[in-house]
Amino acid sequence: MDVTALIDAVSRTRSRADRLPRQEIIDRLSRALTAFTTSSANQRFAEEYRPSGNYTRLLLNSPQDAYQIVLVFWGPGQGSPVHDHDDTIGVVSALTGRTKEVKYVLAPHGEERVGLTATGEFILAPGRITPILPERDKQLHLMVNEQDHWSATVHVYLTAIHRYRQFTVTPDGTYRAAETQLWFDESDVGRRMPASTRS
Ligand SMILES: [Fe+2]
Repeated sequence: MDVTALIDAVSRTRSRADRLPRQEIIDRLSRALTAFTTSSANQRFAEEYRPSGNYTRLLLNSPQDAYQIVLVFWGPGQGSPVHDHDDTIGVVSALTGRTKEVKYVLAPHGEERVGLTATGEFILAPGRITPILPERDKQLHLMVNEQDHWSATVHVYLTAIHRYRQFTVTPDGTYRAAETQLWFDESDVGRRMPASTRS
């Protein structure tokens, strides 16, 4: 599946999301992302891409769209803090390398602090999908590339994220949330990706 077909599939799912059960939304997004991330042409694009920094985030579709399809490049050892996804539903997979995801659940811990408990690890690879569920306490994770070479992951957010929260650990082991803006190094990158005659 090429990037245009992926964008079409996400757009169609988005326009029908109000009438679809949640599992059906996840299944549709997962099928499209599996077909996209197992395409050798898309994998080659990621392997040959020269990221501008150790953590590079590209928006594949238009910033005007109601959804986001994001390609992230992780340098060796690069990772994210624990973060949420502003209540969107979504799916994540990988185009190259093996990136680790650790999911967390959140337990309120007073006004400003929260407790976070790791609930499981998942290795992202092409065709292996992890969901992002919209409940505030179920959509927390961190990701890290523990390999000594680059990896690339693809993130589909059915509702575009503008602001989200990152969690930093404090000396007593609780976490403090800080709101931050989702930025992109570049947008509309799908226009430069390989197009196939068949999808
Ligand atoms: Fe994330």
